[in-house]
Amino acid sequence: MRLLKIIFSVTILFVSFTSAQNANFEKKIDALLKRMTIEEKIGQLTQYSGDRKATGPVTFKGDSEKLIREGKIGAMLNVIGADYTRRYQEVAMQSRLKIPLLFGQDVIHGFKTTFPIPLAEAASWDLEAIERSARLAAVEASAAGLHWTFAPMVDICRDPRWGRVMEGAGEDTYLGSRIAFARVRGFQGRGLGNVDSVMACAKHFAAYGAAVGGRDYNSVDMSERQLWETYLPPFKAAADAGAATFMNSFNDLNGIPATGNRYLQRDILKGKWNFSGFVVSDWGSIGEMAAHGYVEDRRAAALAAITAGSDMDMESGAYRDNLAGLVKTGEVPVAVVDDAVRRVLRKKFELGLFDDPYKFSDPAREQRELNNPEHLAFAREIARKSIVLLKNENRTLPLSKDVKTVALIGPLAKAVRDNHGFWSVELPGVDYDKLIVTQFDGIKNKLGSDSRLLYAEGCDVDCRTDEKFAGAVETARQADVVILSVGERANQSGEAKSRSNIHLPGMQEELIRKIQATGKPVVVLINAGRPLVFDWTADNVPAILYTWWLGSEAGNAIADVLFGDYNPAARLPITFPRTEGQIPIYYNHFNTGRPPRGDDSTNYVSAYIDLKNSPRFPFGFGLSYTSFEYRDLKLDKKRMRANDKLEVSLKVTNTGRLAGEEVVQLYLRDRVASVVRPVKELRDFRKLALRPGETKEVRFVIDKEKLSFYDQKLQWTAEPGRFDLMIGASSADIRLSDSFELVD
Ligand code: NOJ
Repeated sequence: MRLLKIIFSVTILFVSFTSAQNANFEKKIDALLKRMTIEEKIGQLTQYSGDRKATGPVTFKGDSEKLIREGKIGAMLNVIGADYTRRYQEVAMQSRLKIPLLFGQDVIHGFKTTFPIPLAEAASWDLEAIERSARLAAVEASAAGLHWTFAPMVDICRDPRWGRVMEGAGEDTYLGSRIAFARVRGFQGRGLGNVDSVMACAKHFAAYGAAVGGRDYNSVDMSERQLWETYLPPFKAAADAGAATFMNSFNDLNGIPATGNRYLQRDILKGKWNFSGFVVSDWGSIGEMAAHGYVEDRRAAALAAITAGSDMDMESGAYRDNLAGLVKTGEVPVAVVDDAVRRVLRKKFELGLFDDPYKFSDPAREQRELNNPEHLAFAREIARKSIVLLKNENRTLPLSKDVKTVALIGPLAKAVRDNHGFWSVELPGVDYDKLIVTQFDGIKNKLGSDSRLLYAEGCDVDCRTDEKFAGAVETARQADVVILSVGERANQSGEAKSRSNIHLPGMQEELIRKIQATGKPVVVLINAGRPLVFDWTADNVPAILYTWWLGSEAGNAIADVLFGDYNPAARLPITFPRTEGQIPIYYNHFNTGRPPRGDDSTNYVSAYIDLKNSPRFPFGFGLSYTSFEYRDLKLDKKRMRANDKLEVSLKVTNTGRLAGEEVVQLYLRDRVASVVRPVKELRDFRKLALRPGETKEVRFVIDKEKLSFYDQKLQWTAEPGRFDLMIGASSADIRLSDSFELVD
């Protein structure tokens, strides 16, 4: 009780300190706003790219230092490094009002230490690890002078043709929301103002992941219900976690570009959600509204964007050139500009930049954090957690370390930079070729001195010719086991990397057939930023690991899994289709009035006549080297009222011979509702570690929130009636089930 009292008093003290501090910031902002010219205000709303690798078309090519000195730039991107950021900040300190610059960057999955691509991390279903990954990225990025990351990307995506699927958490809203929350917490750490915290930026607001046809930057057309139910919740979770900024998106949503979308930015984000941070446009997206055909020119684009609540202009220059004129004519009230400036200044105060503009630019800290061995150790840990075991017949895996001869074959076996994946940060002066552990090196490190590791490329990633196939087959024949490393190059997924054909590239699958025909045990490693199509391989090869792009320690992590030093426990965060024609395919679909019965039913049911109905691999799926048994499902009541909590418990036993982890997934279905509900929806999960023979009890609590949805009037509500409860090892492997009733 005493302890509780102390905690309570400390919390009260902290809350009152923070609100006093905030009130103080607002006063300082008021004073500053009074002194600012309109040009200086617009400067705070203008962001330009520095001279490091640009991540979009560069629209401003002038003398940025001159503009900074004149107070006409408030933020930069692509300026990295303690010394380099200090240089620019020194220029800002020569401006009339000495308002510090913000430095932002795409720190998407690690900084110097590269962690797995976000989709891979999502496969870990390990929220603590995901938070830590963001934390360490922030520690490194902030040590290199950065205040702000353009992450997390929280776009739900049900279309693996979209190249940016690699950057998010997959198809599921619940999992995606939990991960969004964890990532924001990780980046912002103990809160802005701490020198190792960077501002998070939830992007791309909104619905960017639903681009028609999976083609990047394409239009999005969706119902309000789908927007609220599927695409907005991860953004809400990011806002709830305290995300300091949001980025809007390139797409139009039902005909209105997100950048000029008042409903999204003012009504929902700043209104309903009470978001006090600022919104940055996507790269050039304000100017692009003219190309959309939404506005006549860049002047009208600036008017539409600022009116809609887009606070900062990234790279389009539309605010710089037009906003002052728009204020002069009265088309934009100065109060609208002031509100946007206030939001930006607020973050600069919260970061502590007015007290010390150079606090993030500390070369000694940079040296230390960018070479921190603990970060590399963690990179290996999270990489292992991200690898999905898709198939393992005849206990092909794990391999023995005493195996005499291993053949490592394939275009990606010695890949270096590709291991980093798209959206990795490349720091000048860093020899990444020496830093990255390739698969070849990782496997070599594992083998004893009596074992031999042979290598053959087979073909390059595009695999347009079979001229090296015979050599690869010859290499395979000499081995006791073959590991085949195939997939896509890192730059085949990512921004502007949509693909209509997501099969393994070129003749790669032909190479796999040839190697498989040798009769040797074959393990296929698939490296990719998205679900690929590899139907023949899935049917015929005994062992498959999906390794995505895993970052700095990829080779060691893969070798840990191959040789059993780590028992794989990842689960797919997205459905894998059999072929592109099934897209979009996702587990939480509606039943329809004519659901197919089983995989091959096609007769007047909702199905394709030329394809099985199931996906190749379902959402939530992943194997382990051990096995788990689920039993004793108990519900503490069969009827619950809206303010009750229903407790669910079950037991899970490791029935195999190795220690392992299981992801226990809880799905619900609202059987009958005023709007049709999905056949199942993930509503909770637990990741458990179990020793051989060990049993653990798992408990879940179901409350009204978990039963709620948007009704016909788009009210968030739970309707009385019967609910199915399903406990599964994947969305398609339901082990235990029951039902209960929600009563009035
Ligand atoms: C465009 C991308 O869509 C966005 O995600 C990124 O943050 C910016 N470029 C800056 O690189």
